[in-house]
Amino acid sequence: MTTLLLVDDEKSVRYAFERTFSSEYTIKTAENGEQAIAAVVEINPAVVLMDIRMPGMDGLTALKILKQSHPHLPIIMVTAFADSASAMQAMKDGAFDYVAKPFDNDELRDIIGKALKAGEIQAGLRCGCGNSAGETSDTKECIVGSSPEVLEMCKKIGQVAGSDLPVLITGETGVGKELTARAIYQHSNRREAPFMVVNCAAMPADLVESELFGYETGAFTGANKQRIGRFEQCDGGTLFLDEIGELPLTAQAKVLRILQDGTFERLGSNTQLRTDVRLITATNRNLEQMAGQRLFRLDLLHRINVLTIPIPPLRQRLKDIPNLILYFLARYGRQVSPPVEGISNDALAKLARHSWPGNIRELENTIRRAVVLARSPILTAGDCLVQQLEAANEDSFQEVVGKQIDHLIRTDESQPYHHLISEVEQMLIKKALELCDGNQVQAASLLGINRMTLRKKLASA
Ligand SMILES: Nc1ncnc2c1ncn2[C@@H]1O[C@H](COP(=O)(O)OP(=O)(O)OP(=O)(O)O)[C@@H](O)[C@H]1O
Ligand SMILES: [Mg+2]
Repeated sequence: MTTLLLVDDEKSVRYAFERTFSSEYTIKTAENGEQAIAAVVEINPAVVLMDIRMPGMDGLTALKILKQSHPHLPIIMVTAFADSASAMQAMKDGAFDYVAKPFDNDELRDIIGKALKAGEIQAGLRCGCGNSAGETSDTKECIVGSSPEVLEMCKKIGQVAGSDLPVLITGETGVGKELTARAIYQHSNRREAPFMVVNCAAMPADLVESELFGYETGAFTGANKQRIGRFEQCDGGTLFLDEIGELPLTAQAKVLRILQDGTFERLGSNTQLRTDVRLITATNRNLEQMAGQRLFRLDLLHRINVLTIPIPPLRQRLKDIPNLILYFLARYGRQVSPPVEGISNDALAKLARHSWPGNIRELENTIRRAVVLARSPILTAGDCLVQQLEAANEDSFQEVVGKQIDHLIRTDESQPYHHLISEVEQMLIKKALELCDGNQVQAASLLGINRMTLRKKLASA
């Protein structure tokens, strides 16, 4: 059974709590901050509930200490009315939430449930991964990071997971929107039912509707066979509509209808069908602004953004970079032989200085590439090529390309477009080969093309 730790100096509170929750959880108790810290080390509870005012070490002090030593442990503060200012302080210091005394048992049960989920997501217990290279035992995904921003994100995931309401996840490219959608699903009541992803930006507008709603034979030219759409396939489950800002307006109206009454028709059919799908959406666009420009339906926006999770860019949570690096090292370091197991301080410092416009995906790709390029089990600053490309100075690289373009446009009167593209391509290939000491496999990996393509391009130069 999951263990909860209740810290309160009042015997009657401890007694009432034990009586209410002992059938659901193993309850351990402590009477002040010092005892709480010792108990956390000893029994490793899943959640702590802690009073603020206690003789000896008070709850706020214990909270600060525990957040240092156990950043992933959800701590719910228990307050009397007079403590509301301290409760706010507690939230700033990383408390998961606070509840007022006397307890409302249902409210408390709910908060404990959310805290458990958030703690589970945060610690990556579901996927058995930790935050250091040594601890990570497999390659499954989990949400890494202990910055307040990531804690807040996990808390929100825990809060929204249990409901069937739509969730809108917003954030720049590569911040972890899809990962968050999966975490919500994995912690929801629908986790045994299907989870499907449709990326609205990845297919032409006319295909989106067939993909989402399906069609009957003969619905349009080429519709030779009936097709069941995602909304129908996913009945009872969760559908993740990625890049919802790209959804065409006609499809937006149909999604709105599904959200309103759960009904839709396959293309080419008048038969009304029903589906029960939990919708999670994501976007890196400003949907309010799009609604203002009539590119996105305001009524749909109001339906999908009932619950929102904004994910901050990596540059606003720099504290997470070392943990993420170790996580990706553990994930990719073993895929090469000999395995790469660590990273030098120089390389860490170099990566910490980068601004990561591509966010966590860029960091992940950097480590993946560095592992391929590494010549020793410890990554060096030289292996981390994003930095090298940047160190080669974006401005000066652009300047060189700019001058070349200028020159070609002025001097080449025949087919400037084709010449320009191949000139710039050759410059890029040359630069990649330089960075990889002429190694074509590494250069192809750096450029994100396959080796044969690189060879062909070199041959045609
Ligand atoms: N906190 C995190 N811990 C570990 N891995 C992460 C974290 N956030 C993101 N990632 C990883 O970074 C990569 C990009 O994340 P994801 O695909 O979820 O981003 P996204 O916001 O959906 O990006 P895009 O807008 O480009 O679609 C994935 O491989 C994901 O597993
Ligand atoms: Mg995505």
